[in-house]
Amino acid sequence: MDAQSIALVQSTFAAVVPVADRFSEQFYVHLFTADPALRSMFATDLTAQRQKLVDELVAIVETLGRLPTLVARTTELGRRHAGYGVEPHHYDLVLDAILHAFTVCIPDQMTTEAVQAWRRAYHLVAETMMYGAAHGPA
Ligand code: HEM
Repeated sequence: MDAQSIALVQSTFAAVVPVADRFSEQFYVHLFTADPALRSMFATDLTAQRQKLVDELVAIVETLGRLPTLVARTTELGRRHAGYGVEPHHYDLVLDAILHAFTVCIPDQMTTEAVQAWRRAYHLVAETMMYGAAHGPA
């Protein structure tokens, strides 16, 4: 990723951190509306999962500029996700849910450029997670 896109991802994420609770709520509402069958893959009480998602995004966003560190993390994350029954086609639904949650939480900051930067970052993470699911950690 280019430095400008990384900076945009980091600044928009910094704006979301203070409203992380709303962000994670909107994320899962959108995900389960898009595909209700996904709900049963998660615990009934989503409180812990919502926090884990935010913590993981914090770590990923911090690491975007250090590719080997990022890839070590995301391939391992992807390996674990294969064990949760996650399949490649699910990753597009999660991208839509992330973009939706951003748009609800920080509508003014989700410019065309910011959305594009998030798409880039997400694809990097998702593709390396899928690599990890198929081949194990890099
Ligand atoms: C950027 C992409 C994603 C991130 C950052 C992420 C993050 C996380 C984290 C941090 C956990 C906690 C467990 C662990 O660390 O292994 C988790 C669990 C889980 N994720 Fe993801 N995830 C992503 C994509 C997906 C996708 C595409 C799906 C498909 C529906 C998914 C479904 C699940 C499920 C089913 C669990 C286990 C829930 C449970 O055991 O209760 N995740 N995810």
